[in-house]
Amino acid sequence: MNAATTSSPAVTQSPATIGPVDLASERAELGPALDEAVLRVMRSGQFVLGPEVERFEQAFAAYQGCAHGIGLASGTDALALALPALGVQPGDHVVTSPFTFFASAGSIAWMGCVPRFADVEEQTGLIDVRAVESALDAQTTCVLPVHLYGQLADVRALRALCDRKKLVLLEDGAQAHGARRDGVRCGELGDAAGFSFYPTKNLGGAGDGGITLTQREDVARQLRKLRDHGSSIKYVHDVVGTNSRLAALQAAVLTIKLPRLDAWNARRRVNAARYDAAFAGDERLRPLRTAPGAEHTYHQYTLRVLGKRTRDEVVAGLRERGVIAGIHYPKPVHVQAAAAGWGYREGEFPVAERLAREVICLPVHPFLSEAALERVIAAVRACV
Ligand SMILES: Cc1ncc(COP(=O)(O)O)c(C=O)c1O
Repeated sequence: MNAATTSSPAVTQSPATIGPVDLASERAELGPALDEAVLRVMRSGQFVLGPEVERFEQAFAAYQGCAHGIGLASGTDALALALPALGVQPGDHVVTSPFTFFASAGSIAWMGCVPRFADVEEQTGLIDVRAVESALDAQTTCVLPVHLYGQLADVRALRALCDRKKLVLLEDGAQAHGARRDGVRCGELGDAAGFSFYPTKNLGGAGDGGITLTQREDVARQLRKLRDHGSSIKYVHDVVGTNSRLAALQAAVLTIKLPRLDAWNARRRVNAARYDAAFAGDERLRPLRTAPGAEHTYHQYTLRVLGKRTRDEVVAGLRERGVIAGIHYPKPVHVQAAAAGWGYREGEFPVAERLAREVICLPVHPFLSEAALERVIAAVRACV
């Protein structure tokens, strides 16, 4: 079978549509290596954990500058299970961003802890370190910043704050594979960091998957138990855990993709620079900024829509022109129905709420042609 010319119907896009991912082109670029890796797992008969997973855990941890990697079933589990592994107890307060995918806060509540929010910076959408400090109280034991859209929050300042206040730092790196800020990658300074390998991520598997990275041996040991019902010896259970083990198939796919990640991220940066240049000086559009010292990996290219047409009108206009823009995220976490019991009201995090009304995310994936970029730019200009 020629992998370069085959594609799954689920990921094929009409040539007329420019979408947020192009998994068919990604697969074509990877060639037969991907199919061979899948077959290798099928022939091995080792489908859960095992050598494929261990190899990937070590490779990804090394890539991110971390000592340990623990492969898990999803990015959500990579955050949720890290909390008890770090000693964060049910009832503890954990400070996070209200402007993120629900899982960042949902995993806190899922573990019986209390999500507390700190508003984000208007220029970047990243959690504001001063707001984090104001949100701390006597019950706070953990800070969980979200490295949104492929850009790290100010992780050095957050590390210093956590050291000063004796809190643990758990980074949400679900959108930040390979990103750097002030010379460090996600997981290097945190007590732990959770990553998602959902297929649309900059590094995505062929299904759900996740990993927690940590520099701490004690946290790694505890996480390995928690992902396997509290067991490190078969049928001996030290603590209550769950089943959250990374599948060998995912690890094999991710092992093939990891060496490409830097090149793919570089292509995303080139595409983003093209958009930045095209929209510079247009009063109707304000791209979110890259913070000083940040190496952005553009999981999303995000801009604020400030012209006469509403954001939703712009998204609809783009769709008519065959450009699928994302809205990440249309409703902040603190006003979701699931958060009703957490004690927040609309209006409490005005920056998150404003960005939720204004942002659109343009296709920025590494497989966009020059013609596709031009089409997106022309469509945006026509719609705002
Ligand atoms: C910021 C953020 N945190 C957590 C997650 C959860 O990851 P997963 O979907 O793999 O459970 C995601 C994934 O969409 C995410 O974007």
